[in-house]
Amino acid sequence: MLDEVFGAIWDHHRFIESSIPLIASENITSRAVRLCYMSDLGHRYAIGDVGDRMYCGCEYIDRLENMAIKLTKEIFKAEHVNVRPISGTIANIAVYFALTNCGDKIFALRENCGGHTSHDFTAKIRDLEVCYLPFDSKTFNINVDAARRKIVKERPRLIILGASLFLFPHPVREIAEIAQEVGAKVVYDASHVLGLIAGKQFQDPIREGADVVTASTHKTFPGPQRAVIMCKKELADSIDRAVMPGVVSNHHIHSLAGYVVACLEMMEFGEAYAKQIVKNAKRLAERLFELGFDVLCPDLGFTESHQVAVDVSKLGGGDKVAKILEKAGILTNKTLLPWDTDKPSGIRIGVQEVTRLGMKEDEMDIIAELISRAIKEPKKVRKEVSEFKRKFRTVKFAFEESPAYEVIV
Ligand SMILES: Cc1ncc(COP(=O)(O)O)c(C=O)c1O
Repeated sequence: MLDEVFGAIWDHHRFIESSIPLIASENITSRAVRLCYMSDLGHRYAIGDVGDRMYCGCEYIDRLENMAIKLTKEIFKAEHVNVRPISGTIANIAVYFALTNCGDKIFALRENCGGHTSHDFTAKIRDLEVCYLPFDSKTFNINVDAARRKIVKERPRLIILGASLFLFPHPVREIAEIAQEVGAKVVYDASHVLGLIAGKQFQDPIREGADVVTASTHKTFPGPQRAVIMCKKELADSIDRAVMPGVVSNHHIHSLAGYVVACLEMMEFGEAYAKQIVKNAKRLAERLFELGFDVLCPDLGFTESHQVAVDVSKLGGGDKVAKILEKAGILTNKTLLPWDTDKPSGIRIGVQEVTRLGMKEDEMDIIAELISRAIKEPKKVRKEVSEFKRKFRTVKFAFEESPAYEVIV
């Protein structure tokens, strides 16, 4: 049985090392981060606050948590930071606990306009009434004038910005002004773009007026799977209480240590990394467009983030196309587009992971060609994908370049 477990891990590693990973919500960590995962910290509890824990033995864990708080504040210039949520969804739930009562109204993007489940269905489980932010599919952004009218009428408690399909910066300044008029708080979910913000290549939601920023730490920010919440000082106590004991007790110290390492990596290499991500996304979009794909927003330069969105309805829709590409070893995901009511007509492509593996614009040209040919003959292209990927099995933008796919057993 043990053989089966490690066999599956081994097989997964062989599969992923020979594939092109373009899932926009994933990334790969450095060996330094992975070593933290394997440390004794993964066996320990750290309930309570730094310096005031329920269990003994937390002296060095306190050091790590202090480092995580200090570095996060430094990178994002945040007034208050909570590094304990163990995922982006948990961070958003904590914000609902902290800033809303059951029955309150909130505004968020609908799923087909890029909104995440935790902005909608998760919020409804807390009995929040979710109103949708008006969206302009041409600019792939929030329609501020229509949003103003709706927000002033509905007077919500919270307005959630940020998205899962996130091509362009959101109008945080404008929405924050409207929010002030009606006494609402603005929450910006930076899960997707945290690494771009750290690398100064996307908007700065805190400076633009967001009251709270939530974010998972493993998408464009190349850390372990967990999350952070940043907020204004006056919200610190309610956020902290909502996180613990609200939604976590122990908060997975091995991954906290890995997060500290990822912060150090981003301080050193974040700007170069984020710049290359955006260049790569634009280049991949351009090349796909030239090859005849219906890439969204050609008039706006396609994207300002790590993502590219393609309407593949002419090719049979997002589900069909993503599955064909998977057969060729090209990993993307189906996605709803603003005009979809039922079946997703799009695929979402993210370049943050291949960028971390050292790919640049020339490789984006190759990936576009492979995608184009894979649609017609996925099995034939599978070998080429595997061959192409051979040169990209090292994690870059880290203190030590390390093998991406070693199995440590
Ligand atoms: C915008 C957004 N928020 C939150 C989440 C949830 O993050 P997690 O998977 O860490 O719970 C996601 C996941 O992809 C997301 O896209």
